[in-house]
Amino acid sequence: MGSLNDTFDSTLRSVQSAQTERELEDIRVQALGRKGSITLALRGLKDLSPEQRPVEGEKINRFKKSIEAALEQRRNELEAGIGEQRAALDGIDISLPSRARYKGSLHPVTQALTRIEDIFLNAGYDVVHGPEIEDEYHNFEALNIPAGHPARDMHDTFYLKDGQVLRTHTSPVQIRTMENREPPIHIICPGRVYRCDYDRTHTPMFHQVEGLVVDRGVSFAHLKHTVIEFIHTFFEESVEVRFRPSYFPFTEPSAEVDVKGAHGWSEVMGCGMVHPRVLSMSNVDPEEFSGFAFGFGADRLAMLKFGIRDLRLMFENDLRFLNQFR
Ligand code: FA5
Ligand code: MG
Repeated sequence: MGSLNDTFDSTLRSVQSAQTERELEDIRVQALGRKGSITLALRGLKDLSPEQRPVEGEKINRFKKSIEAALEQRRNELEAGIGEQRAALDGIDISLPSRARYKGSLHPVTQALTRIEDIFLNAGYDVVHGPEIEDEYHNFEALNIPAGHPARDMHDTFYLKDGQVLRTHTSPVQIRTMENREPPIHIICPGRVYRCDYDRTHTPMFHQVEGLVVDRGVSFAHLKHTVIEFIHTFFEESVEVRFRPSYFPFTEPSAEVDVKGAHGWSEVMGCGMVHPRVLSMSNVDPEEFSGFAFGFGADRLAMLKFGIRDLRLMFENDLRFLNQFR
């Protein structure tokens, strides 16, 4: 049984040099498992002579106990070692209170936009998107604003190369939708728009949400109902709303809508009945169909909802401001 002595010695050595619990378990199985060296040796005792059997039996059992004890000891050492390693990590004092962690949150404008989309999705509208870099045709001409039209000056446009502009409103998405879909159309188009504008209620980048409904028999009454219903749902309370007659080249008649907030009346949108010229330029027959459209400032709505005095705060990324909207 010389070979069992050798196996025993090498088993003890590998136990002592094992580095992981996993290694220890493999060694245990090799020695004490169902087909382990010690187990097999014990099973072999029955083939020995009656004189040899107790002598060998006693020795194998001694090996077995030694291996079990060594495994236990090494397991404890490994556990202790992990604790020491943790404590030694760069001298970290684990008794110190931990540093505060800041949880992120959605920007107030994002919160408003999500809410707006939900309201219109529930009412059966589709949400569609258009490009922020637009061509002058979709941003102006197709909306009945030809070159030289005074309405172009209202838009403080950022011009790019090759007849391209940063879109000044989401109305071009009305055109893109009518070019690609047949009525009935019920859509909203949220997105960023750009104007060379900067004061308490104007920022050079802001968010509009365009709405467009085209079908047979659509009237101004439908527009008014939709707008008022939307505003009341958005603010969850009966805020005061007023319609003022206004002018847009792409709607006739046109109106602007104001909402009364904590700081007085604030203009939130433009709207009107889609101009027949705009319908026919986009291949919708104005004899058969009519439509209404609106375009509102999502930032203005967020401003009113959260009682913010200056719109520019929205885009300065000051955490003291943003933390208030968690
Ligand atoms: C328009 O942009 C029209 N396209 C709206 C429209 C759509 C009319 C469909 C008819 C039919 P206006 O320039 O008024 O209209 O802008 C609409 C809204 O965007 C404003 O009422 C305001 O809420 C918001 N807005 C305009 N300029 C800014 C700005 N610089 N910063 C923040 N919000 C703005
Ligand atoms: Mg306006």
